[in-house]
Amino acid sequence: MAQHRILVIDDDSNLLEVLRMRLEAAGYDVVTALREEDAIEQVRTQVFDLAIIDLQLTTSDGITVMSDMHRINPDIPAIILTAHGSIESAVSAMQKGAYSYVTKPFDPRELLFQVEKALENRRLSLEIRRLKELLDERYEFSNIVAKSEKMQHVLAQVSLIAKTDSTVYIHGESGTGKELIAKAIHTSSERRDKPFVAINCAALPETLLESELFGYEKGAFTGAVQSSKGLFTQAHGGTMFLDEIGDMPLSLQSKSLRVLQERQFLPLGSQKPVTVDVRVIVATNKDLWNEVKEGRFREDLYYRIHVIPVVLPPLRERKEDIPPLVDYFLHKFSKKMKKKVKALTSEAMQKLMLYDWPGNVRELENKIEFAMAMTRANVITDDLILYGGDQAPDKLKSFKEAKSEFEKQYLLNLLKLTHGNVSRASELAGKYRADFYQLLKKYNLKPETYKTH
Ligand SMILES: Nc1ncnc2c1ncn2[C@@H]1O[C@H](COP(=O)(O)OP(=O)(O)OP(=O)(O)O)[C@@H](O)[C@H]1O
Ligand SMILES: [Mg+2]
Repeated sequence: MAQHRILVIDDDSNLLEVLRMRLEAAGYDVVTALREEDAIEQVRTQVFDLAIIDLQLTTSDGITVMSDMHRINPDIPAIILTAHGSIESAVSAMQKGAYSYVTKPFDPRELLFQVEKALENRRLSLEIRRLKELLDERYEFSNIVAKSEKMQHVLAQVSLIAKTDSTVYIHGESGTGKELIAKAIHTSSERRDKPFVAINCAALPETLLESELFGYEKGAFTGAVQSSKGLFTQAHGGTMFLDEIGDMPLSLQSKSLRVLQERQFLPLGSQKPVTVDVRVIVATNKDLWNEVKEGRFREDLYYRIHVIPVVLPPLRERKEDIPPLVDYFLHKFSKKMKKKVKALTSEAMQKLMLYDWPGNVRELENKIEFAMAMTRANVITDDLILYGGDQAPDKLKSFKEAKSEFEKQYLLNLLKLTHGNVSRASELAGKYRADFYQLLKKYNLKPETYKTH
């Protein structure tokens, strides 16, 4: 373990030496200072684990030195040395942030004991702070399942990006979690208490999109009976999320470029530019560079937004995320639908693992929601996992097939229930014994295997 470094401040050079000897003998690294200026200079240039400060210095008092020191580094605990009988000032030192005090002439064992205690206390509070920070980070991402290395990489990127104000470019297939990641960047950034405003550029016709984004003056167009602020203004101080930016009409692209370059724009029908402080995050599932080459997307805007690219991998490239995502959605929907479904049968899970997931996480979420709504048991069986929005053709059974499957299952359940007692089973089924035997034979079921011994 690294040696602890202690700063000792006292205007009595003899006492300073005694303290140095005692502390060095106990294994500490000691730096001494006779005057406040020297002490502060040391704090500025080195890291200390503890300071021992004399309360009555010639040029200033120990409490001022301690406060000055804490302004530079608040994590250095201070032990105050006081003259015998000045308990009052010692107590006031503690109120001002000293860890403890030792009275002079001091008992060396008492001093060492206080030093150890202060160091241990510091270690614990730093540890608690570290854990809290870790917890905060976890909390921020608690709604994002990321077991795969690829997604872990994305989350690490998100933590770093959140600390900057640069434009983020999120690229990923539909349903890979682009909006989720955009929100995570916002909530882990300094802007978290300000608005997160999202708009889907593909969802609105050109003129509507323009007035939504930039706002308008009263009378700017028919129907503009009063002025409106627009989303960029609403996002002031926060984050603006431009979803599906690849679908933004060319005319609006140049206006957006100006916002990105100067954080300024003109609302419709207004001559007065509005200045906003927004962080911009864009998302696209298109290959935007291709759009640039085809002349559908401005090259200069492309370069403006392509500052920090985040690529969300499709689900089929990170199948290890499927089981934890399933758990996450089972929990979510069982709570919502008030059902006690906690698992999938292994056949159902296997079916999910083998699938290609063109709709990515959103499709998986929908499938689990559907299965949860349909199930009557407390597990989800593979027959409840449907593909392609409806039943896959090879999965649609003929009436005959479905009927015999049902019959077999029915008989099996009866045999289990009656422990292979055929008289009892046929009675429950309302069948003659002979007919019942026929059925068992048809499905190759043997009552004796269900007998309990
Ligand atoms: N890693 C994940 N952990 C938990 N939930 C996720 C994850 N990724 C996506 N989801 C969920 O899947 C759904 C789709 O995610 P989101 O809307 O962010 O995707 P998108 O890429 O914006 O999709 P689209 O292209 O369709 O707009 C959301 O309900 C989201 O909460
Ligand atoms: Mg989206």
